[in-house]
Formats: sequence, structure tokens, C-alpha cells
Amino acid sequence: YVLGVDLGTSAVKIVLVNQAGEVVHEVSKDYPLKQIKAGFSEQNPNDWVEQTLAGLSELVASFEGNAEGIEGLSFSGQMHGLVLLDEDHEPLRDAILWNDTRTTEECRAIYETLGQETLLEITKNPALEGFTLPKILWVKKHEPELFAKVKTFLLPKDYVRLKLTGNLHMEFSDAAGTLLLDVTNKRWSEKLASVFELEESFFPPLVDSHQEVGLILAEVAAQTGLSAQTRVFAGGADNACGAIGAGVNEEGKTLVSIGTSGVVLSFESGSDKNFAGEVHYFNHSVPNSFYTMGVTLAAGYSLSWFKDTFAKEESFDLLLAGAKEVPVGSNGLLFTPYLVGERTPHADSAIRASFIGIDGSHERAHFVRAVIEGITFSLNESIEIFRSYGKKIDTITSIGGGAKSDLWLQIQADIFNAKVVKLSSEQGPGMGAAMIAAYGCGWFKTLKQCGDAFLQVDKEFEPSEENVKTYQELFKVYQSVYSGTKEMN
Ligand code: XUL
Repeated sequence: YVLGVDLGTSAVKIVLVNQAGEVVHEVSKDYPLKQIKAGFSEQNPNDWVEQTLAGLSELVASFEGNAEGIEGLSFSGQMHGLVLLDEDHEPLRDAILWNDTRTTEECRAIYETLGQETLLEITKNPALEGFTLPKILWVKKHEPELFAKVKTFLLPKDYVRLKLTGNLHMEFSDAAGTLLLDVTNKRWSEKLASVFELEESFFPPLVDSHQEVGLILAEVAAQTGLSAQTRVFAGGADNACGAIGAGVNEEGKTLVSIGTSGVVLSFESGSDKNFAGEVHYFNHSVPNSFYTMGVTLAAGYSLSWFKDTFAKEESFDLLLAGAKEVPVGSNGLLFTPYLVGERTPHADSAIRASFIGIDGSHERAHFVRAVIEGITFSLNESIEIFRSYGKKIDTITSIGGGAKSDLWLQIQADIFNAKVVKLSSEQGPGMGAAMIAAYGCGWFKTLKQCGDAFLQVDKEFEPSEENVKTYQELFKVYQSVYSGTKEMN
């Protein structure tokens, strides 16, 4: 058996997976999000550790097999969150998370000091509020006394791993989201460190995702019931692990994941392509490979907002059944899902959502379908960026909430103009983390082999030519709404 620990934003989810790739046990333990001011989003790193230990104890207790049978453990983690440690490796403040947007000023300062071109050349990414370097600069400026005590920094799951093993590391797929990594050469950028005056000791040692970083500490074994011989592997960023868990492990594979936010992610064997910073370009957890990614901030969140506001008593199934009766294009009703701003392609945290084209014939079901279509149009913006740079995207694996409905899967196929594949067994990032542990333990020679053994296709959805044409026309209208509504904010 292996364990996959997925340290998310609302909870830590742990899966126990056997050699056939089946999830035999799972637990979830949540922790609070602290949003003390508009734009601020923080968590206490020790809440993560406590709840991970509680989850592991519960899982081991409910697992009737032998804890000795659990060979390895690895992690998936929410990206970009800043954990600042003192010289005893204790956190100096709450972590500032990926969805915290206080750092617009710092992003501007990064461009001014360094120039966009140099930043892109080294990090392959633009300066966005969510990334780690702007958060470091914010603390340096606003909390100088605290910053003077900082010895080193970590990302969320790396901190939990430190507390489980006693060993301090960061791995490449998460380090890529800090804006301090030389992504192509897989090393901390000396240039960035010197420009932003960060000492060598600030940077933790880097390892590969599947690298073994130690065994669990004796006290952790005693507390959780795990064997002290449990091997720990570094793990990966949640998006990299989500991709591995969905079999996106070789050139030509693309993933759409619709959760609270939505992601379009495409495998890249090299870092030599130039997407001009329009999409993220990170190191993958599959050794020596990369992925590009576009993000829709309010994907599933747009639909759950709609349901909570206008159809609280209704089930999602019923809402979607109604939307199925509405024609393609929702009879001229269009939605842009910018409830909390938008990441790709606009990188605009101030833009807000809209319904356009309402007439007296529209009923609630039209609005539901328009919301689903609008979310899918937003994801299609990322797909179109990939295509405009020459990427061929004809098959897409869809996971998350958006893959639970046949209607939405067909809408994805029609809007993306690609075959959409749904997997039969899918556990997202936690499964990806377990697969990294399985690979690390030597169960498979490659992560691709592991994916082939663990994952099966459930259903495929082909685009309908007629619907593709209708959606292509509507997509042009959708794209024009951004500039038309920008001035209103
Ligand atoms: C990626 C990002 C999010 C977080 C969510 O750039 O900010 O997907 O990783 O956990």
C-alpha cells in the first residue's frame, strides 16, 4: 500500500491505495481559512500538521490491514503559499496563501526592478499576486522586524513533510510557482536572489518529486500508528499531482479540471516553448518534464454561487437536467464567470461577472445552462492560447465536478472542439501523490506505467459538428464581453 496526502485549501485528504490502484480507505480533515481583510487569505501551518496527523491516525486505525504494509507516502499541495521559518524551523507567522491578492504593488515592483522579459526568461511566468515572491516582498516591506528573523521559506506541503520527517526540502514542481526558480535549469536563480536581496540560507535544498527524503520520525510513527519504516517521497504541486492522477504524463495529453477554480493543463516535454507568459509554465512531477496551465478563477464556484443564490433547495442534478432541455447557446443568454476576477487570459483581479442578452423568454434553466457554457468558454480561452502557439489539442481528459455530468462533458467537447474523456476511477491530486509514492517505492519503472496500470477510461464524448459551429460564433461574442465590461469596474 501507499498513501497520498493532498494538502488542499479547505482540507487535507488522504487516500490509501493498493497495488492495483484502488483506493481502499480515505479520510478528510478540514482547517480554517483566515480572511481578516479583503484580499487577505491565510492559514496556520500547524493546523495543517495537526490535521494531517489526525487524518493519518484515523486512517491507520480504520485500516484493518497491517500498518507495516504501508510502504510509502507522498504529498500533493496547494501551491504558492508562503511559510516563513525561524532558525528552529518554526513558523514566524501564518502562511499567506495562493488566493491572497494583497500584493498588486509588489508585482508592479518586480516588473520595475527586473523587467518582464528577464522575469519570463528565468521563471517562464509573469508576476501574479498569487505567486510566492510578491508575498515575500510584502512581508519584507510591511513586517521588517519579523522578516529579520526569517531563516528559510517553504511551501505548504513541504512544511508538513518537514514536520513528519525532520528533513527540510522543496521540490521542483512547487518551487516553479515561487517566481524564484530558474525553471529550465532546475536551480534557484542567483540573479533573482541578489536583485531581491535574499540570502543563500533562505532557499531550501531542491529535490525531484519522486525522491525519497527520509522515513517518518519515531514520534510521528508512535502518534499515528504508521510503521517507522514508512518511506517518504517529496511529492508535487496539486496541479502536477492532479495531472499524474489523470494520466497526463506524456506529450499530447491535456487535462481540464473543474473544481472551485478551473484549470487547463497540458504536458510539455521541454521548457523551450515560448507562451510569452500568457499561461503558466511549470516543472512537472513527471521527471524532467513540464506543463503549461491556464486558470479560470471561478469555475465550479460560479455554478455553486448560482445555486446558493437562486436555487438553494434544488439539487445540482435537477438543475442540470433542466439545462439539458435548453438549446445550445441558451437562446442568446451569455455569462462571463468573473465573480472573483479572472486569471487566464486577463490577469485581472478587478473584473466582475455578467449575464448579457436576457429577454423575457429566459427561465431559470437558461441561466443554469448559460453559467455552464460561460465557465466552459473561459476554459476554452486557455485552450485557444495553447493552440495559437501551435499546440495540437484533440483529446482532453476531464476531471472534477465538471466531469460528473454527461451534459457538461458534451458541452466541453462541443466548446473545446475536441474529444473529451472521462476516467472511471479518479481521485485527483491525492491519487497523483500516491502514484508518486508507488513509483518511488519501485512498483513501476515510470509514472506512465503506473498511470497505465491504475487508470481506466469510462466514457468518451465526441464534438458535434453543428454544435461546434454554433459555439465558435458565440465564443467570439463571449470574448468581446471582457473589454466591453472592463470600464465598469
Ligand atoms: C495554481 C494555483 C492553484 C492552487 C490551488 O497556480 O494557484 O491551482 O495550486 O491549490
